[in-house]
Amino acid sequence: MCGIAGIVALEDISARLVQSIRNLEYRGYDSCGIAMLNGSGKIKISKNIGSVEEVCEKENFGRLKGSVGIAHTRWATHGGVTKSNAHPHMSCDNGFSIAHNGIISNHEKLRTRLKNAGHRFRSTTDTEVIVHLVEDWHRKVKSVEKAFVAAMRELDGTYAVILVTGHEPDRIYCARNESPLLIGLGDYVNYIGSDLNAFIDHTKNAVFMEDKEYAIVTHDSCILKRISDGETMSRQVQELMWDSEMAQKGGFPHYMLKEIYEQPQVVHNALDIDPELVEGFARMALEKKTLHITGVGTTFYVSQIGQYYFSRYAGVTPMVISSDEFRFLAQVDKDTAIIAVSQSGETYDTLNALRYGKSHHATTGAIVNVMGSSMARMVDQMILQGSGPEICVISTKAALSQMIILARIAMAAGVMNGRITAKQARGYEAQLRELPAAIENVLNEKSGFIHTIAQQQSHIKHWLFLGRGRYYPVARESALKMKEVSYVHAEGMPSGFLKHGTIALIDENLNSVVFAPPEEEKELYKLTLSSAEEIRARDGYVLGLTFKQKKKEKLPFTEQIVLPKTPPFTAPFLQMVVAQLLSYFTATTLKRNIDRPRSLAKSVTVA
Ligand code: AGP
Repeated sequence: MCGIAGIVALEDISARLVQSIRNLEYRGYDSCGIAMLNGSGKIKISKNIGSVEEVCEKENFGRLKGSVGIAHTRWATHGGVTKSNAHPHMSCDNGFSIAHNGIISNHEKLRTRLKNAGHRFRSTTDTEVIVHLVEDWHRKVKSVEKAFVAAMRELDGTYAVILVTGHEPDRIYCARNESPLLIGLGDYVNYIGSDLNAFIDHTKNAVFMEDKEYAIVTHDSCILKRISDGETMSRQVQELMWDSEMAQKGGFPHYMLKEIYEQPQVVHNALDIDPELVEGFARMALEKKTLHITGVGTTFYVSQIGQYYFSRYAGVTPMVISSDEFRFLAQVDKDTAIIAVSQSGETYDTLNALRYGKSHHATTGAIVNVMGSSMARMVDQMILQGSGPEICVISTKAALSQMIILARIAMAAGVMNGRITAKQARGYEAQLRELPAAIENVLNEKSGFIHTIAQQQSHIKHWLFLGRGRYYPVARESALKMKEVSYVHAEGMPSGFLKHGTIALIDENLNSVVFAPPEEEKELYKLTLSSAEEIRARDGYVLGLTFKQKKKEKLPFTEQIVLPKTPPFTAPFLQMVVAQLLSYFTATTLKRNIDRPRSLAKSVTVA
């Protein structure tokens, strides 16, 4: 949600600190700010509403010089988007400053108590109570560490908190509970960040904090302790696999386009994941009586496609529940396996589903993109998808990679339980190996045409995305893409569902996209085309996503994007790339904020 960064060094860090929140901006981007300790131990704050670029210019961040500082980029939860609600927040005596990610659920009670004790509040955020609480405790216990810990013990809810204080100007205090926080270790300089993008430009060595821990970080030390009893914790330093170049736009106008174009490589990476890891997941899936696959938003649709692949190629139909609903629907016990899917590995709802599963003794696995993320560390088995940093708030390459990995797990399970032969599995794998070239071909050959269609249809305010079987989750995912990047209303549904009500909407104001399978999927093909015919019979516009046919036949589409002949196993994945481009070009035509659409955040770490 929000991005947090901190640096403790011996020399001026102002430029580096601004860069840190620039790199974290995809986590939240309604306002941002910096608190810097200057040489005399005074804290200077600068903050405002707007993107890092805008605020940096408005406030001239560069004038805040210092060697210890914290910074924050916000995605508002409590309190509107205003300058006073932007982080960092200051204590009454200006001796402490704090930035926070998460939600403090008992903030109202604490605020009333602190107000009664004479504290003056300047914002309407839940965060501000934390800084007054530390100040309040400090008056009583006269030790920053004791005050910080006492304050953390009083907080209910989720937090990654970072604090600087004039009382101890050579260090940063930080703590986490259910919101990510990690520490980057440099040479006489240490970094704190809500994810590795905060400091990946400077160091690849990191220590991951666990829930209910705090840390005291100076330029050459980092001490981790447990909040409950102050016990010192030892933790291994991990080497991060990404580098800063991977998180640059590399000549593309937007990260979204760059990430769409990275998909051929991302598919290769997904196929190169150690087969033993894949088989481990397949075994887990088959050994237990019930298998759940869960995710939310895009990863819910990814889970759904996994469900279809499992059903078709492993003869097992897993339960797929959106992770925000998991606790209210799932039946979980020790005979249950849960596979969670998440790009960030930090999404609150999916983490919560895993926690629920673990508390009911389920065996858990996660497919995640971010190394060292909370999910990666809490599950029994983990697959790191290796898609590289996904900076655009809209998920594209990570989703495709997750689909491929789930298809691989389904195939491995199919071989294990005899649903398919090893030879057949090798055949499907070979088809997957051809997918990168097919995607490249679509990107090179079809982009122009897709762009033209997007421009011509950009006046349309409502879209239906329709598919059957494995094409149905892809249709839903494609509708989500259209909504989130172009702000155009879109619904994805099974094409067979159309005639049960939604068909009443068909008129000149609503466009449909039909995901037609290759013709060898005979039944699916016929049924999907009949839905397109139903729409055409009502004069509706239908864009068909089709594959080259053996013999030319007249298809019931207004327009069509014809893809090269593709095996059914990989066909839905190729169509998804087309739909990503359609959303992207619609959004660029409508001049949307592509990489940071309004109201969204890359990783949603609150309930
Ligand atoms: C995707 O484009 C989204 N903005 C969103 O639905 C996302 O997929 C969802 O929040 C889950 O995130 P995760 O993969 O990081 O868990």
